[in-house]
This record gives sequence, structure tokens and C-alpha cells, in this order.
Amino acid sequence: MKKIGRNDPCWCGSGKKYKVCHEAFDNKILRFKDAGHIVPTHEIIKTKAQIAGIRESGKVNVAILNEVAARIKPGMTTQEIDDIVAAETKKYGAIAAPLNYEGFPKSVCTSINSQVCHGIPSEEDVLEEGDIVNVDVSTIYKGYYSDSSRMFCIGNVCDEWRRLVDVTKESIQIGLNEVKPWGFLGDMGEAIHTFIKAHGYTVVQDIGGHGVGLEFHEDPFVSYVTKRGTEMLMVPGMVFTIEPMVNMGTDEIFVDEDNDWTVYTDDNMPSAQWEVTVAVTEDGYEVLAW
Ligand code: MF3
Ligand code: CO
Repeated sequence: MKKIGRNDPCWCGSGKKYKVCHEAFDNKILRFKDAGHIVPTHEIIKTKAQIAGIRESGKVNVAILNEVAARIKPGMTTQEIDDIVAAETKKYGAIAAPLNYEGFPKSVCTSINSQVCHGIPSEEDVLEEGDIVNVDVSTIYKGYYSDSSRMFCIGNVCDEWRRLVDVTKESIQIGLNEVKPWGFLGDMGEAIHTFIKAHGYTVVQDIGGHGVGLEFHEDPFVSYVTKRGTEMLMVPGMVFTIEPMVNMGTDEIFVDEDNDWTVYTDDNMPSAQWEVTVAVTEDGYEVLAW
């Protein structure tokens, strides 16, 4: 952390002097660092004004997903979902973060059944009765990023697959319960992993969540196969996603060589994912998008 005078304005933007604002907070973080923990830099910690901006972005993000939820149905193509997301995003004066992100060609990710994530909407992909699909919406509103995703069961889905979807959703709350200041991201990761394993499923290791807010993908990387007391210290003002990818079978995955994006399970078994954007508050957490 860069040196700042005790009488200088605080880095958090409060306008108060550093010594009466975040000095004690920074010293507390330094004690964790000295004890060998990974700690957040100031760039990772959002100001109140930035969190307010991400909160507004999150409201738009959720409204877009609600519109998808109202209209998704059997027989619809994933391109139609992309059209809904593009139109709704425009309606709110927002920008779809995925479009052209590192060459991604569409406004939303739609991942069906054994697709783990980063499915590309297409006229060819028709949602069929019994499918499970993840719709992952990432929104830029007034410069602030929010990111959330839901699973949708298309028509009648068999009990086994529905259970995968439900357990994955439940795991988000299990993770959220661990989000509090002066805990560790690993507490959240271990809680989710333990819960998922107890249901006989696996968690994808190499892809996970991320800091979010001022950019689409910020530090830290957020894993769900980590151990309690490890990974980055959580402090008020951090904003990140919880988005475990849960597989019914193996946790092994591969990337589609034709488009270099879409991730599949190795064994062709289904995969589910829910995603929230969450802020660490003074006494716990606030969900900014789901
Ligand atoms: N929305 C994904 C996430 O949760 C990222 C997708 S990158 C994209 O982090 F380019 F495929 F959109
Ligand atoms: Co994300």
C-alpha cells in the first residue's frame, strides 16, 4: 500500500483525514499481511460511491435476467435469449459486457446441459424440454460492472438434473454465509466445496469467480475448492462474484476447439452454475446482483 500522511485526505474518498478514517483499518490489514495472509490492495477496495454505482448496475443486471426469466421457454433458440438481453440492456442505457470482450461475439453466455460456461448464443441451439440452461448476464451501467447468472429448467426436467440445479443454487447461500469482514475467501470456498461434495457432485477447479465493479474481471480469483483460513482476506468494500460451476460427474472439462470459448464437461454429464455479485459490508455482505 502506498504511503499516505496521517493528515492527508483518506484514500477512500470520504474527505476525512486519513488518521480518523482508514488508518486503523489499513494497520489491521497489515497485521494480517505480516502474518502471511494474502490481503487486498486499495485498488480492490471500493469506495461507498463506487459501491452505489455497482448497486445501480446490479439492478439493471437483475432486471435483464428477470426479463429472460419471464420469456424463456421450450422451442426458443439461445439467439433469442441474446436478442432479449441485447434489447433490454439497450433499453436501460447499459452495455452488455460480454459483447466483444476478448473477442466474445454475443451479449450473453448461454450454457446448456454439459456446457459448463461460455456457451455462445446461436440460431442453431434450440432449448428443448428437459434441458437445463445457464444464462450469464454481465452489465456495464454508467461505467460500473455487475455480473450474475441463473439456471433455467426448460419444461419438465428430470429429478436428478433438477436436484443438481437446486443444490448448486443452495451452495450460493452457503457461500454467502461465510462472507464477512476479516474472514478469508477460502472460508467461503471450503464451505461451498464441502456442501457440493456431500451431495456427490464435483466443483470445477480452473474457472471461478473474480473481483468485479470497475472492470469486468478484477483480482482476486475466487475459487470454490480452497481451504478455510487461506486465500484473500475479506474486508469491507471488496466486491466479487460467487459463481461455482458444479458438475454431476467428473470435474474435468475441455474447451471447444472450434470457438475457443465454450467449456464442456469431459464426461458429457450436466453442469450447473448460479452467480451473484456480492459486496463485503461492515458486518457481513450485500448481494448486489442475482
Ligand atoms: N460472465 C462470465 C463470468 O461470470 C464471463 C464471461 S466472459 C465472456 O465471469 F466473454 F464470455 F462473456
Ligand atoms: Co463472473
